[in-house]
Amino acid sequence: MIVHHSQFPHAVQRQLLDGLRLGQVPPKFLYDSDRQTQKWLAVHRAHSPSRTDAGVQSIYDRAFDESLGQAADEAVCLVGLGCGGGQKDTRYLAKLKSIHTIVDYVPCDVSQAMTRVAREAAAEELPLEQIHPLVCDLANASDLGQVLDTIVSPETKRVFTFFGMIPNLEPDVILPRLAELLLEGDQLLLSANLAPGDDYRGGVEVVLPQYDNAETRAWLLSFLVGLGVSATEGRLRFGIEQTFELLRIVADFEFSEEVELSIGGESFEFAAGRMLRLFFSYRHTEQTLAKRLAKHSFTIAASQIDSSAEEGVFRVERV
Ligand SMILES: C[S@@+](CC[C@H](N)C(=O)[O-])C[C@H]1O[C@@H](n2cnc3c(N)ncnc32)[C@H](O)[C@@H]1O
Repeated sequence: MIVHHSQFPHAVQRQLLDGLRLGQVPPKFLYDSDRQTQKWLAVHRAHSPSRTDAGVQSIYDRAFDESLGQAADEAVCLVGLGCGGGQKDTRYLAKLKSIHTIVDYVPCDVSQAMTRVAREAAAEELPLEQIHPLVCDLANASDLGQVLDTIVSPETKRVFTFFGMIPNLEPDVILPRLAELLLEGDQLLLSANLAPGDDYRGGVEVVLPQYDNAETRAWLLSFLVGLGVSATEGRLRFGIEQTFELLRIVADFEFSEEVELSIGGESFEFAAGRMLRLFFSYRHTEQTLAKRLAKHSFTIAASQIDSSAEEGVFRVERV
């Protein structure tokens, strides 16, 4: 396993402390321990349409099949950016194996535990020596392309997956990174949670219960408990927020009493009524996504949208 310097302990600790001071925890901390990983996997099992809805599973399979026609090289490397438990990537690997003689897999995630789970899943399809876990904060790894060159030959074509990541990262930070990463002949498949229907806000309201539920609350609160905050010292509030033209689902912890914490030698005071942003998830329509991608010189080459219009998988190209 390779750990990129963006996930070295000192850098990670600094980010956490800065985030707490600003009242906004970077999303990566919600996944960043064995405990958080297990809690998130429970949310995913119970609520991710890709696990609970066969229709959504099938859009991934269709996107994989469509992409196979695009590259016929002998060797290919699948790079799972924010791989999570690697279930989707593993289904893709099974298909890639059928047309390429050499297939490598780089499960890349901010969470070490997540890369281990993905490695285990992918081992059903590939020998372990062809699986190269990489622990990395994608928002802080401008040299990711060079790091990948040390793992697989720069001549090998790469297929990047970026599933479920668009909602959790600031688009204007991550899309330029992806643009730098993609070389001639590489492919990028990404998926986004969509707001169904013609009424954007109405569509986001429809999917709010996928977030405001027992498993998601347990996941978010376990992060706070890990910091030393008791779940009874405030309450979790879910809502919908507009940032420029995009809507996102947010979850804040509102302290109901004064709480003092000491973390990494620094002390923090949260007064009663203070909010701590724990979670956000941008919901797109196909149009808002296409517009945001275009801003960073990407175009949608192929799209698969599920019948409930709540999730889409897109093959994206540089313009
Ligand atoms: C919503 S999950 C998606 C997982 C998987 N791709 C899927 O679709 O099932 C988001 C994943 O991104 C990872 N992640 C969050 N922020 C990240 C960052 N800054 N850099 C790398 N990975 C990150 C999390 O650890 C988590 O595994």
